[in-house]
Amino acid sequence: MDLPFDGAISAYFNDDAPETIRAAIKRADKDEILNASYPHSERLARKVYEKEMDRLQIELVKLQAWVRHTGTRIACVFEGRDAAGKGGTISRFRANLNPRHARVVALSKPTETERSEWYFQRYIKHLPAAGDMVFFDRSWYNRGVVEEVFGFCTPEERAQFFDQVSPFEKLITDDGVHLFKFWLNVGRAEQLRRMLARECDPLKQWKLSGIDVKGLPKWDAYSKAIQETLARSHSDHAPWTIIRSDDKRRARLNAIRTVLHAFDYDRKDTKAIGKIDHGVCGGPEIWD
Ligand code: ADP
Ligand code: AMP
Ligand code: MLT
Repeated sequence: MDLPFDGAISAYFNDDAPETIRAAIKRADKDEILNASYPHSERLARKVYEKEMDRLQIELVKLQAWVRHTGTRIACVFEGRDAAGKGGTISRFRANLNPRHARVVALSKPTETERSEWYFQRYIKHLPAAGDMVFFDRSWYNRGVVEEVFGFCTPEERAQFFDQVSPFEKLITDDGVHLFKFWLNVGRAEQLRRMLARECDPLKQWKLSGIDVKGLPKWDAYSKAIQETLARSHSDHAPWTIIRSDDKRRARLNAIRTVLHAFDYDRKDTKAIGKIDHGVCGGPEIWD
């Protein structure tokens, strides 16, 4: 089988990656967390993760039944650097839900026609109807980060985006949509470790793209664009939830808990949901 990514990531690792990052990856065993500022040194044990995830899955099923019954509308936006774990987190949310009412929206780059529309227009048709949960795997926040880093939009378009994004989200939330905005935050060494793993695994290669390879050396440009985006779009009506996702397991558990704790659905078992880990999941102040 021909794999399109035949060594571009390992070439970056060997030739260009900062020495500290390279050393951290080489030294670490698989359960070690590579980010020194992460509040835990090892990832959550698989057994603990699976037990907690099983309990959360039951709560999510109860939540969906209630959402259907009450006509609630939920939109969850997942943002983060490449390989932050957006897709994996979304798939754990949806694992035991009726997929018709728990859709994923992962739009590709805008077509020529879409480019001629109002920037937010192509996202609007995917917002939830009554009884629906919609998971955005990337979203209108492309304009805040990836479009800036790669020059896919003009400075004027980006300025207009920042003028419009909070009013746009105010319109949606005032209409009754429950909007969650998750920023998945992954450290540089962990990001590279995941991309190296994707490069060698034929089942994971689809997750890599040319942008990911070109994005690796642009770490600092990303950081600047992310900081600006978080600062300019964190609002009372649509706050960001930062999820530190160097440990995918803790990230997934805490993202799901955040949504479950927000609703008073029938037969809710608060103890089964468990406590949010505030070192891993919080406001923009925990981004680093
Ligand atoms: P993903 O990481 O979601 O699998 P990519 O890494 O290929 O996807 O691209 C990251 C994001 O950048 C996607 O949302 C994609 O739509 C967007 N993107 C890629 N090329 C362009 C472009 N030329 N103009 C605008 N957006 C783009
Ligand atoms: P993904 O984010 O989907 O690439 O998954 C990343 C990691 O999670 C892989 O190392 C898998 O072995 C592990 N994984 C996949 N599915 C599950 C699951 N249902 N429960 C626990 N871990 C899983
Ligand atoms: C992720 O894992 O963060 C995304 O779903 C895929 C990617 O950005 O490479």
